[in-house]
Amino acid sequence: MRVVAIANQKGGCGKTTTSINFSACLSFLQKSVLVVDLDPQGHSTCGLGVKTQKGTPTLYELLSPLYPNAPLISQVVRTVRPDFDILPCDFTMNALEEEFGFLPNFHNRLRDLLSRVVREHRDYDFAVLDCPPNLGGLTWNALNAADEIMIPVEPSFFSLHGLGKISETLQTVDRNRQVPLGVHALLTLFNSEMSFSQEVYDEVKAHFRGHLFTTIIHDHIALKEAAASGHSIVEYAPQSPAFQDYLNLVVEFLERDWNRKLPEKELGWSQVLKDHFGPRRVSDGILFQFLSKTASSVEIAGDFNHWVAEPLVRRNQDGLWQRVIPVELKTFCYKFIVDGEWQVDPNQPVHKENAYGGVDSYMELV
Ligand SMILES: Nc1ncnc2c1ncn2[C@@H]1O[C@H](COP(=O)(O)OP(=O)(O)O)[C@@H](O)[C@H]1O
Ligand SMILES: [Mg+2]
Repeated sequence: MRVVAIANQKGGCGKTTTSINFSACLSFLQKSVLVVDLDPQGHSTCGLGVKTQKGTPTLYELLSPLYPNAPLISQVVRTVRPDFDILPCDFTMNALEEEFGFLPNFHNRLRDLLSRVVREHRDYDFAVLDCPPNLGGLTWNALNAADEIMIPVEPSFFSLHGLGKISETLQTVDRNRQVPLGVHALLTLFNSEMSFSQEVYDEVKAHFRGHLFTTIIHDHIALKEAAASGHSIVEYAPQSPAFQDYLNLVVEFLERDWNRKLPEKELGWSQVLKDHFGPRRVSDGILFQFLSKTASSVEIAGDFNHWVAEPLVRRNQDGLWQRVIPVELKTFCYKFIVDGEWQVDPNQPVHKENAYGGVDSYMELV
């Protein structure tokens, strides 16, 4: 499950609108999605037409340490459409941080919950976390649980003001992570008739450089209307330019190499884990994998990248490291570099002597 937090401490920049419509477009492209509404205002919940009732458990009960055994995840998950679910919340979430924020592991409660979702309920392709407009405990929970953060930025002076604060927060988050959080920024509520919009675009681009989506979400009244009707833009106006913007975003997100977080399910790594680790051909190149729970860095170098080491990304608690190199070679030599030490591939027995009197791993792909 690839976990994407939609976060920015500023309110009104399009977090909820993006959570709803990015998720709906992922679902439109046949991905299974779980939206997690972390904002006590419950805007994703009602924006997707889900009503919470008194006495029915919500995300609060799942995150609260007072209910270690109950409720079941399936008692809280609500289905918006097939393969498109939400963990809803309401104002009761306001109390969570006040009640339990002092607990030493409070900031990891969501991460643990999402592991539970995968184990006990369902392994979705994506979980999309709609964060509250602050950098408090719930947002920290989201950042600790996420693989990636998407930061919506709307064109205003105040948004530029907050970018430094977000970058600072991300650096702090990364200090406690093995794999750095993937960062994407998204320009929202863009109105090309306002000259200020273009200025902000240039500033945001300078700040986030390659991390800014080329897709821009324009200011579309249909997005407001869709939210008010309790539907995503996919149901509300599938022919609209607003739908096209969010669809473009999802396509860019899925296709673009952001120092690539591989969609686990597409590559079927759980199956791969069982039967074969050697390099293998996948749709967009050759997949290299290495298994180590203890390594703090694993890199790959070979003919295909002129022996310039490129990092693998750690995928899971079992210590599976992966990287796709976008080439179409049939034969090649390569080596892994584990914590700085060059070594042959332990899962692939064929070697070839190199010019330095040592051996490299050698692969012939059929
Ligand atoms: N691209 C857009 N075009 C028009 N209205 C938008 C757009 N994105 C968000 N809005 C509206 O702006 C307001 C704030 O957006 P919202 O997604 O709730 O922000 P946040 O969750 O960051 O507080 C809402 O009324 C929403 O309908
Ligand atoms: Mg919101």
